[in-house]
Amino acid sequence: MPEKLLTKFNLRDIELSNRIIMAPLTRGRADNTENKVTDLIAEYYRQRSGAGLIITEGSQVSKMGVGYANTPGIYSKEQTEAWKLVTKAVHDEGGRIFIQLWHVGRLSHPYYLNGELPLAPSAINPNHTIRTPEGEKSSVTPKEMSLSDIKKVIDEFVVAASNAMEAGFDGVEIHSSNGYLLHQFFAPCSNFRTDNYGGSKENRCRIMFELIDEMVKVIPVNRIGVRLNPSSHNYHAMTIDEETIPTFDYLINKLNEYDLAYLHLSEPFTDVSDVPYSEPNIAKRYRGIYKGNLMINNGFSFDSGNKIIDDGFADLVAFGVPFIANPDLVNRMKAGTPLAEPKREKYYTPGAEGYTDYPEVT
Ligand code: PHB
Repeated sequence: MPEKLLTKFNLRDIELSNRIIMAPLTRGRADNTENKVTDLIAEYYRQRSGAGLIITEGSQVSKMGVGYANTPGIYSKEQTEAWKLVTKAVHDEGGRIFIQLWHVGRLSHPYYLNGELPLAPSAINPNHTIRTPEGEKSSVTPKEMSLSDIKKVIDEFVVAASNAMEAGFDGVEIHSSNGYLLHQFFAPCSNFRTDNYGGSKENRCRIMFELIDEMVKVIPVNRIGVRLNPSSHNYHAMTIDEETIPTFDYLINKLNEYDLAYLHLSEPFTDVSDVPYSEPNIAKRYRGIYKGNLMINNGFSFDSGNKIIDDGFADLVAFGVPFIANPDLVNRMKAGTPLAEPKREKYYTPGAEGYTDYPEVT
């Protein structure tokens, strides 16, 4: 019997050749005027098309959604057209690719927003450092979103999903984790609202379901994935409290009402062993609640990835950092070839170095 990661998987109606998923990775190579992807980016994804599924780097759904330098967008015609380079390159190699739809909310900075304040559920400064080409800057107090701002952001995600289909993607992943805009709604530490979008867990999660309900009007539900990070503490200014796990239990249980492509969960990015109210075993807990396809991420190896599938806690495993220096990661895992180490200092720098120059060895 081959190891589970090397077996096929039927993702609703999409056949994946293996269960080794390329996790979304910010790489900062998009052009810096129109935030379009380039031939170099298409080559990077082409090299990694042996993954059962690629999930692209986070791609902002609007000008207000950006929080890092040279990240791609998926809101303009030109950006949509440019993404066809990527989808064609991956499909020509027999790969599959979803785009991650991203809005950073309060983790942006006026530097990226033409001097405007970032948008967020509430006017609470995350007290975080924001990376910019001018160096690290202190975050600011964001603007509390009005009801029409909320409607507008939902619409931006929907238009982005429709653009993604036009660009030839197999589906989209809604980035609702890691302290970005949607996660900011879920968490009491960043959401002090007293209207229908704040207070109870039902209210804090409302935007997610309104967003999916609108999105399924333009793309099939089985082409939508959702990403959540329930239990990282002091990561991207999110803190765990007594509401955290009940909120995610509610959110994830309610996602059962949708036949999503998958739910993508992260094991904690930070050590939560001493953090009150935290859940250290995300796949284990949520396999008990979520009935659909479950993808798990963060810190897995070939062995631990096979084990979590064998144990019945996940269907798919997403690998991030290992894909940076190992374009042929699937073949290396198959062959037992040692993995190369990435050059951290090249994670976000322009050009091919530390990006498309890692060799295939299998
Ligand atoms: C990052 O660029 O550091 C980053 C981006 C998106 C994430 C997490 C981290 O979801």
